[in-house]
Amino acid sequence: MNSTLVVFYSYSGTCRRAAQLLASHCGWPLAEIRDARPRAGFMGDLRCVLDSMLRRRPAIRYEGAAPADFDAVVIVSPIWAYQMAGPMRTFLAENAGRLRRLAQVTVMNAAGASNAVGEATRLLQRAPVLTAEFLTREIQDGSGTTRLLAFGEALASASGTQAPPHRALTEADISQPITH
Ligand SMILES: Cc1cc2nc3c(=O)[nH]c(=O)nc-3n(C[C@H](O)[C@H](O)[C@H](O)COP(=O)(O)O)c2cc1C
Repeated sequence: MNSTLVVFYSYSGTCRRAAQLLASHCGWPLAEIRDARPRAGFMGDLRCVLDSMLRRRPAIRYEGAAPADFDAVVIVSPIWAYQMAGPMRTFLAENAGRLRRLAQVTVMNAAGASNAVGEATRLLQRAPVLTAEFLTREIQDGSGTTRLLAFGEALASASGTQAPPHRALTEADISQPITH
């Protein structure tokens, strides 16, 4: 088995975009974590903050491929109130025993990625094999794309899978609109 799955959670579209870029560049399948109880507006934001402050594990819906079927899983998620977004906490807690090798991508405005890596390490009882953090701006304006794709290639090399062929980024990669 030599395969990698990209699993993302996104509230406002940035992590979705990062995960789509990574998965399409590396030819990896993509799976989304959704809130069982959707969030929106002020109350949605408040729930995000409370989930972080109280380290809650909000109910999620996950209909992607089984993580246990993959050699490696890359998680992509935002930071809320200096912590890993609650739905990704739930996913990791529910799948800790099924994740062979975990790589972690964090997207944030300014700070909190190290806490998210620390939490993933505690939940899995081992450190992710590779981590990378990006600012929201780097994903949105494309300035982080090269580094994101290099992350994918490094993981592919470390996994013993063939690194994806280099291809020139198209305008569509850079300016793909963020969907909410
Ligand atoms: C409720 C809330 C709390 C946030 N807290 C932080 C934070 O503590 N540190 C930070 O750098 N960014 C914080 N952010 C910004 C998000 O991490 C950032 O916008 C990220 O790109 C969002 O990803 P998404 O669009 O995939 O949901 C917060 C965003 C929200 C909605």
